[in-house]
Amino acid sequence: MSEGKSRESWSGQFAFVLAAAASAIGLGNLWRFPYLAARYGGGVFIAAYLILSLTLGVTLLVTEIAIGRRSRQSQLTAFREMGHRRWGFLGVLSTVIPLCILPYYNVIGGWVVRYFAEYLGMAFGAGGQGLEDPQAFFSSFVSAPWAPFVCMVVFTLVTCAVIVMGVKNGIEKSNVVMMPVLLLMAVGLAVYVAFLPGAGEGIRYYLVPDFSSCDNVGKVVLGAMGQMFYSLSLAMGIMITYGSYMRRRDDIQRAAVRIVAADTFVAVLSGFMIIPVVVLFAAKSGAGRAAIDAGPGLMFVTLPKVFSSLGAAGQWIALAFFVLVLFAAFTSAISMTEACVAAICDFFRIGRNASVAVVCAWCFAFGSLSAFGYGRWAGFRPFGMPALDFFDGAMNVLTPVVAALTCIFVGWVARPRTVVEEVEAEGGRFRCRRLYDFMIRYFAPILLVAILVSEICRSLGIGGWSI
Ligand code: PHE
Repeated sequence: MSEGKSRESWSGQFAFVLAAAASAIGLGNLWRFPYLAARYGGGVFIAAYLILSLTLGVTLLVTEIAIGRRSRQSQLTAFREMGHRRWGFLGVLSTVIPLCILPYYNVIGGWVVRYFAEYLGMAFGAGGQGLEDPQAFFSSFVSAPWAPFVCMVVFTLVTCAVIVMGVKNGIEKSNVVMMPVLLLMAVGLAVYVAFLPGAGEGIRYYLVPDFSSCDNVGKVVLGAMGQMFYSLSLAMGIMITYGSYMRRRDDIQRAAVRIVAADTFVAVLSGFMIIPVVVLFAAKSGAGRAAIDAGPGLMFVTLPKVFSSLGAAGQWIALAFFVLVLFAAFTSAISMTEACVAAICDFFRIGRNASVAVVCAWCFAFGSLSAFGYGRWAGFRPFGMPALDFFDGAMNVLTPVVAALTCIFVGWVARPRTVVEEVEAEGGRFRCRRLYDFMIRYFAPILLVAILVSEICRSLGIGGWSI
């Protein structure tokens, strides 16, 4: 935002909560949460997740939002602005993360655009035959010479168009359209699945605690924490940037609890939507429980197989599902783009449009590595991995580092008092102060370092510790 111009703000508390929830609710809720719940003993994982997000999740959210609102800056300049120049590097780190994630996130968004278009064509009788063999369709699509790049460009341009329109007219308005549709589709699909014959077994598998599959409590807790962290879009500057547009009279703690509640609701709902159909399909096709896959395989191969096994209704279910996924991906990408755009505006003091152009060009350039990474540039394999997997792994290591440093900064350098003062700015009351202090100074940094160690072990392929 250029100097002299007052900073834009959300039109109210609801708009802010909706925007933050829209960022939080994304692919992580739709495929990662159900998969982890299935892997770590169903109800046990869900309980651990609920407890962690209501304590630690709320703590970290309140912290980031308060930093943003206090400094009225996006993450790049926020730490410096709070009077701690030596911590300016943390702003740089928390800007590097969304700048590196956004290009490959947009590539995956492009995949979703492609599937959406295919199912749309199928539903209206124009094409879609390619999906009769989802595995072959997926492999030939991602390795095609241009298609993944073109889809990524489409996804990026739509996101940037929303950002150009600004905080109120762009982000807020698009959320008001997309979020209710997303919720409706999610609830509708979960109800549809619950009435499928034989769904009971899958629901039981999802909800009933299975203590035998979580022999290592540490792994369950780390798994839940890593998921919470990614799901709430923490350590990427997003909540700092969104917080910088928040009005001072709004209640930060209450907003944080609502964001966590909305995010957790959709995550739990996704489990109801996905696990029973995959369990049913696995029983029918003899694929076994391995069908509940963590990665792109679930979304782009297994579920399309499940949809085609549902008969005539399948294509409509698939279409509803991909509308849901598309909107979830868009709203998350919008928040990440905003964090990058705002950082560039604040730092270089240039206008919003110029900043969007820079971010857009960056996405095309850097995203091409991931978009072409399974096809024409498949030879480029950093550390022996396709480009997209490499960037994803690197970011999984960097985010806990930034989150831990943010906690150390607030807990020990700026002191929790700074956050408390911001929350209480216009007569608000800070609830659970002792719990907050303990979380931010001890509990969060220690757990974050544990996640970091486990991510490093996983990246290096060292067993035992990795989740
Ligand atoms: N929080 C999103 C999810 O649950 C993911 C995301 C990551 C969004 C990074 C924005 C930035 O899927």
